[in-house]
Amino acid sequence: MNVVTPIGEFASRRDLAVDGEHPRNVIADIASRPRGQARIITVANEKGGVGKSTVAFHLAVALADTGHKVLAIDLDRRQQTLTRTLTARGGTARRLGVRLPLPKHLVLQQQSGAQLCQEIARAGWDCDFIVIDAAGHDSPIARRAIALADLLVSPVNSSFADLDLLGRFHPVSNKLLGPGCFSAMVSELRSARAEVGLPALDWLVLQNRKRRETSKNQDRVENALRRLAPRLDFRLGAGLFERVAYRELFLLGLTHIDLKRIPELARTKTIATDEVSALLDDLAIDSEAENQLSVSVLGVGPGWARSAVPA
Ligand SMILES: Nc1ncnc2c1ncn2[C@@H]1O[C@H](COP(=O)(O)OP(=O)(O)OP(=O)(O)O)[C@@H](O)[C@H]1O
Ligand SMILES: [Mg+2]
Repeated sequence: MNVVTPIGEFASRRDLAVDGEHPRNVIADIASRPRGQARIITVANEKGGVGKSTVAFHLAVALADTGHKVLAIDLDRRQQTLTRTLTARGGTARRLGVRLPLPKHLVLQQQSGAQLCQEIARAGWDCDFIVIDAAGHDSPIARRAIALADLLVSPVNSSFADLDLLGRFHPVSNKLLGPGCFSAMVSELRSARAEVGLPALDWLVLQNRKRRETSKNQDRVENALRRLAPRLDFRLGAGLFERVAYRELFLLGLTHIDLKRIPELARTKTIATDEVSALLDDLAIDSEAENQLSVSVLGVGPGWARSAVPA
């Protein structure tokens, strides 16, 4: 029989403390520390390869581009994808002789909750936003980063293998059976926050690598996410399409919104800029940042420049 289990009931049956620090302890520690003015955006999903670093990078750059002071913290000290692309960004700016907004960034070498809080206080004291990129697995430090966040951003690929971490669906009937392991953990942290009176954690889920052509799978995934959103209390963002440019510009530490600063590409038109702009809209931060970014949507450019920046 396919029974949809209430989220709270399902979550409370799991002993989340088995996998690490108990959510109540994590939250109690956070609540006891002074909190800076920066808004913390944690990009996390314990599924690997869903685009967390790509999204974290675009968010950090888009926020810096709109004049905000941004600190990017890379929790993945092994792969350091976010760090490598932000380092490449500095090199690209020097080689091209252009000024690019560059978020401050650091890798969390010592993976302790106390160290993360210290770095936020030390390096992020003068920042408006702190963007944290978590590694693609469950860990005490990823939980800590989620617990600290004002906004949790979770990219997912258009696949039920990815959705399984958010919600369990019946393979034949497609009925929702209950939350997945990641959403159960988020739910526990949210409850623990509520218990000590911390503000509610806003959760934004984004579909990444969306395909342009419609398919039954894509429809089913979108439908499943729409059903999950009210049950798990997340907002569903516009998401990102599958684009070669996200991979190629990433290597150079560039995003589409930088192209206006590079003379050879300044007139390149790419609709991916609109996607990055929509990413900021989905954060629902403030209308000023939104307006500034929408002004940066680029004009139509010459064919060679268009081909230099694949869609
Ligand atoms: N919208 C997109 N279009 C095309 N390629 C993408 C897109 N988003 C991400 N990718 C590519 O998918 C791969 C995984 O992306 P990324 O490294 O951002 O994932 P991740 O979730 O951070 O992975 P991990 O869990 O290992 O940290 C990379 O090769 C990246 O360039
Ligand atoms: Mg990553």
